[in-house]
This record gives sequence, structure tokens and C-alpha cells, in this order.
Amino acid sequence: MARYELVKRSVALITLTNPPVNALSSAVRHAIAKSMDHALNDPKVTAVVICGENGRFCGGADIREFAGPLRGPPLVPLLDAIEAGEKPVVAAIEGVALGGGFELALVCHYRIAHFKARLGLPEVTLGILPAAGGTQRLPRLIGIPAALELITTGRHISAQEALKLGIVDQVTEQNACEVAVEFALRAVAKPLSSRRVSMLTTPCPPDLDGLLEAVTMQVKKKARGVMAPLACIQAVRAAATMPYSKGIKRESELMATLFNSGQARALQYCFFAQRTAGKWTLPSGAQWNNSKPREIRSAAIIGLGTMGRGIVVSLARVGISVIAVESEKKLLETGKQMVIGMLERDAKRRGVSASLNLLKFTLSLQDLKDVDLVIEAVFEDMALKKRVFQELSKVCRPATLLCTNTSGLDVDALAGVTDRPHLVVGMHFFSPAHVMKLLEVVCGPRSSSETIATAMILGKRMGKVSVAVGNCPGFVGNRMLKPYLDQATFLLEEGATPEQIDKALEDFGFAMGVFRMSDLAGLDVGWRVRKESGLTGPDVDPKNPPRRRQGRRYCPIPDMVCEQGRFGQKTGRGWYMYDKPGGTNAKPDPLIQNLLEMYRSRYGIQPRNISDQEIIERCLFALANEGFRILEDGIAARPEDIDVIYLFGYGFPRHGGGPMFYASMVGLERVLERLEHYHQAHPDVPHLEPSPLLKKLVACGSPPVQKWREHIKTMHSHL
Ligand code: 3HC
Ligand code: NAI
Repeated sequence: MARYELVKRSVALITLTNPPVNALSSAVRHAIAKSMDHALNDPKVTAVVICGENGRFCGGADIREFAGPLRGPPLVPLLDAIEAGEKPVVAAIEGVALGGGFELALVCHYRIAHFKARLGLPEVTLGILPAAGGTQRLPRLIGIPAALELITTGRHISAQEALKLGIVDQVTEQNACEVAVEFALRAVAKPLSSRRVSMLTTPCPPDLDGLLEAVTMQVKKKARGVMAPLACIQAVRAAATMPYSKGIKRESELMATLFNSGQARALQYCFFAQRTAGKWTLPSGAQWNNSKPREIRSAAIIGLGTMGRGIVVSLARVGISVIAVESEKKLLETGKQMVIGMLERDAKRRGVSASLNLLKFTLSLQDLKDVDLVIEAVFEDMALKKRVFQELSKVCRPATLLCTNTSGLDVDALAGVTDRPHLVVGMHFFSPAHVMKLLEVVCGPRSSSETIATAMILGKRMGKVSVAVGNCPGFVGNRMLKPYLDQATFLLEEGATPEQIDKALEDFGFAMGVFRMSDLAGLDVGWRVRKESGLTGPDVDPKNPPRRRQGRRYCPIPDMVCEQGRFGQKTGRGWYMYDKPGGTNAKPDPLIQNLLEMYRSRYGIQPRNISDQEIIERCLFALANEGFRILEDGIAARPEDIDVIYLFGYGFPRHGGGPMFYASMVGLERVLERLEHYHQAHPDVPHLEPSPLLKKLVACGSPPVQKWREHIKTMHSHL
């Protein structure tokens, strides 16, 4: 767990050896304590260098150990002892120094960083704070404003920025460990007192309270209801106002309030869920680590609309050459200008040059003969998409992968019209595609493992979180969205307002409430889908009872809103009113109030007061209930995949963990009981009927979310 060697006759080199990130597990802490003891007591040793194996200094505390009782030496006294030692200790930082790893570096008397190293205190993203002295030492070293920013955001910084801030003493392009050993030899004769960061006086800004207040406001606005950043601010205040011995106690008290909180559990679950999501498996045994992806050097995008443009940008900025195809000259030109503008802005922001030379624009599919992969992003119309796929089949070389960005159509039906169904897969991006991190990779029954592996890895290369899902209407994300949206509109009928529902969801932590989100996405999209599926429009049988369709409750209010030309932000009117078409400042609209009142009186609905609790329960439990059905049906392999989809694609708050984790946190028994209650009250809403899997899990004693997989006996996995 740590290797000890004597180099250059007098330098003790301690190398952390806990792959892959040299996390500070109990065994590593034990090994560091033993090695330091040895080094400090061996008269031959004049200085110490600490580094990490495989070019990674240390990724911090071992997060997997957080779930169990503390074993092995606690970190704070161990680090205090390193700092207090009488021999100079130099940290040789390569790769990463994060969290506890950064705190370890802070107790070393000198820090040498490789120029590619990244440093940071990301604890706040795990719902905790840097509790091994990080909140007390960093402000002493770099001052309150800079420390506050790093600690409350968890941002990683480059070695160069660390040098500018005064965190590291030297940045090197050579082997950091060798440089650190030479540095240590030179440090032997020098006094250490000024190098012990805990002994420094925190440089205090003139208006400390004003600064802390401003940062508190910022944090509250950005991360509504999230506890950890606020606790971080309090800990930094202690660094400014208390001696180290008291500040460290305050840090530990604050950590205790966070450590066992639901938010910390949720955020740590998200960390692992995100990493688990990439690990797909097929019933055939093919999986992420035994399927070879193809290398993709060139791609084509068909359709330069909202989605196509963002996908072109995502591909080009990672060095893939792209041919973009449109149906008409004018649309091609507009699309081209938009893509160029987006790429230029993106390159400017990242301080690189825009890769415009990788782009080609054309009206002819014939130009796609030699590309490695095509992503179709034309209108959501099956007949059109089938025509495009048939054409692609004829034009592209036999090995070209054919992908679709459909948001819910049958991927296998598209595969069926091609000469290569095994090379067809869904790549479902989210809008705006160059910004949103989620990619659902929709595996048809005939998609080969190589095709899936290629789509998954391509997503990762574009900086996306790729999740493999099965093929069913709406896949995972959009299939679950339906019951969620339905509940929101039923609540409108019963007496709530769009702003009340949105506020409840935003207070819960959603980036946007359901109505604001719908206004942003455009209300006409769903209206078109409802018309096509015979739920509204002239084809509806007039004998149909007004608030029922296809044997179940139906709310026509969204159709009524669209009939008035209110399509959301783009038309300046939707569930809210905006200053102008394209405006983003949503204001409640009295016309919507009127519409709701008239609607209720027309159908004799007595509006009632609806609590925020009911809003959250009906929207979120209906969402999770559909998630259980998706697991039962084998459309998602595990609850973590569903949660990652909702975190990265639908703005579910990370500190809630995702809909499935949230259900398990609330308690599956409670979720079941509330769904039964609401289903009894609304028997014509099948989405509220508890799913068999939920009932089964409750009958098995409500195991934690990580154990659900053992209970999902999926007969036919659709993955
Ligand atoms: N503890 C336990 N496991 C960890 C870990 C950690 N701190 N950091 C990474 N891992 C695991 C991952 O789960 C993954 O496991 P898997 O292979 O089984 O899926 C494996 O290490 C590799 O991780 P990544 O896939 O993330 O590898 P990358 O190379 O993409 O990224 C990294 C490396 C930047 C270090 C990234 O893993 C990371 O950000 N890790 C977390 C860092 C962090 O938050 N540290 C703070 C911990 S809390 C703390 O230190 C408290 C202290 O103040 C007391
Ligand atoms: P859009 O209407 O903005 O763009 C579609 C583009 O395809 C238009 O520019 C049109 O001219 C072009 N097109 C149509 N037929 C063509 C053909 N034969 N050859 C070349 N170009 C052709 O539509 P949008 O929103 O970009 O959607 C595209 C696809 O992405 C749809 O399948 C949609 O369901 C899906 N999607 C949309 C999301 C969204 O939020 N808009 C999110 C995720 C997926």
C-alpha cells in the first residue's frame, strides 16, 4: 500500500501503491504512518519525498470505505504528524492530488507538481467537506477568497494555476519524483517553521463578513437546498477567525453533520453510478470489457436542425471529420453558419482554434460513401427515417455504422430496412447536443456488441456519459417522462397552478420545474406526437368522453394551450408569458389562470388546495414507478443507469441521487403505500398502480438500491 525506499543515500521515498488512484484506504493510511515513523526515526534519512505509483499522486480518501465504520489510523492526526516532523517532506504531485490527496500534499513542507497534474478539493461534490485540515490549511496558504472558491465548487485546477495561487512551489515537465528528491536534498538545512501551513496566519480580507455573505448568496442560488457548500463556508470562516487547533475541531463538527446525511449518501452514490453506467452487458455475455469498439475517424450527420448542429459540434471538437447533410440549399447554408458560429464560440471559450477544416456540407447522400459512421437527425417521422436508412444502406460502404438520434421511435424497425441491421444503433443525444452530457445508446435486438461498444466509446470521447438502454417507445428517459408530465397536468386540473408545481419541483432541487422545462423544449413537439397517436385532433372519436382517451384519464389542457399558438419560449407564450419570442424570463400569465378556471368550471371540478408534498409525491413516485417497470422489462440493466439518465438528461438534482435512489431513500414501503393511496384516488391512471417489482422489493425487505439487481429476474433483457 506504500513502498519505502532510501534514495540518494539519505532521502526516504514513500510511494503510495493503491491502484487505480492511490486512494487513502485504511491500509494506505497505516502504511504511510509506518513509513513516516521509519523515516523520522532513521538517522540516515535527512528528508522525505511522498509520491504515488503509476503517475498518480493520490485521489483522496477511499470513498468506498465511507459506508463502513472507520478502520485504521484517522487522517487528521496522521497528517498533523507529517507536518510537525523535523525532517523536510516534499510532495511529488503527478496526475492528481484530490481531496485527502491534496490535504496530504498541504501538510508536506514543499510541493512539486508535474505540469499535467490537477489539484482540487472535490469533497463538496460528494456532499462532505475537506475534513483532513483542507478547510483550515488552504485559506492560510492562499487567502480566503481563492480558498472559498476552490472549496465550495470542488473545481480541479491545473499545476500552472496552483503555482500562481502559491499552492505549489515548482512546476516541472520532468519526472516530478526525481525533481522532488533533488529539491528535498536542497531543503535539508533550511528551517521548517514557515513551511508548516497550519502555523501560518490566515490573510484576512477587510470585509470578511461581506465576502462570506456574498458567497453564501451565490451558493444558495446555484445549488438550492444543498448543504455541503454552506458547511464549507462555515469551516472557512473558522480558518479566518480561530487558531488552527480550534478551527480543525470546527471542521470536524461540520463534517459530522454532513457525513451521514442523505445528501452525502446520494452524491456519493452518483459518483459510483456514473462510473457503473458505462459498464454494459448483453445477455450473450458480450460486455464493455470484452467488446472491441471500432475506431471512428469520420462521420456524417443527416439533418442540420436543432439536434444535428449540436452533434456536428460535439464530433468536430474531438477531431472527427464530419460531413453534414441537409435537404435544401437554404437550410444547408443556415445550418452551416450556425455550426461554424457554435464551433468558433466553443473554441474561443476553450482557448483553442476551431476545427473548421474538419467540416464539409452537402446536399447529397452520395458524398457519404466512405464515412465510418452516420448519425441521422431528420424529423421524428418513421416513414422519412426509413427512407433515409434505405438510401444510406445503398450509398455507404458495407462497414459503415448507421445510427439514429430518434427520441423514441423503434430502432429495430429502422435496422430492418437496411442491409446491415447488426450495424444499426440508437444514439439519443439531448438538447442542446453540444452541451448536454447524456447519451442514451439504444441497443436494438440485432445491434452487434461491436456496434454498441463503438457508440458507447464514441459518446465517451465526445465527453458524454453514455448509458446503454433497450429499444422500446421513448427508451428510458422519455418513457419515464410521460407519467411525470401526466401527473403535473392532472394536478393543474385539480387546482394547482404551473408556478406552484414548478416551485415545488425547483425547491426539491430540479434545475427547472416541469412547465418551465416544457416551455423551453417547445410545446408543439408533444402536441404533434399526441395528434399522431390519436389522443387529440380531428381524428378523435367525438363520442369519446372529454377527459378520457384510450380507456384512461387524459388531460387536454396542454392541447388547449397549443391551440392558442402558445408553443413556449420560442413564441413568447406558453405555460408562462415571456417578454418576447425567445425570451427566457418566465412570468405567470393571467390568461393561463383564466383558462384553468374556465376549464374547471366547464367540467365541474372543484379546485382544492394541493400541498407541495402531494406534488412531489405524485410526480416523483409516478416517475420512479415507471423506472421499476423499465427494470422489470429489461430496458435498463440497473437502477444506477436510470438515475444517471435523469441526472444528466433531465436535471434531477444530484443531491437527490436520481429517481430510483430517491425512492429507496424515502423508503420503498412508503413509496408503495403512497402509490396505492393515489391509485385508489385515481383508479383511471394506470401509471399510479404500483409496479410488481416495487411490491416484490418491499416483500424482500426493501434492499438498498445497489442490491436490487439480485431481485430483478428479467426473463428477456432488451439490452
Ligand atoms: N475512492 C475510491 N474509489 C475511487 C476513488 C476514491 N477516492 N477515486 C476513484 N475511484 C475509483 C472509481 O470508482 C473507479 O473504479 P472502477 O474502476 O471500479 O469503476 C476507478 O477508481 C477509476 O476512477 P475513474 O474511472 O474516475 O478514473 P479517471 O481516470 O477517469 O479519474 C479521478 C480519476 C480524477 C481521480 C476520479 O476518479 C475522481 O475524481 N475521483 C474522486 C476524487 C475525489 O472526489 N476525492 C475526494 C475523496 S473524499 C476525501 O478525500 C475526504 C477527505 O477530505 C478526508
Ligand atoms: P429539427 O426539425 O430541428 O431538424 C430536422 C432537420 O432535418 C431539418 O433541418 C430538416 O430540414 C432536416 N431534414 C429533413 N429531412 C431531411 C433529409 N431527407 N435529408 C437531410 N435533412 C433532412 O428537428 P430536431 O429537433 O433536430 O430533431 C431531429 C431528431 O432528433 C428527431 O428524430 C427528434 O426526435 C430527435 N431529438 C430531438 C430532440 C430535441 O430536443 N429537439 C432531443 C433528442 C432527440
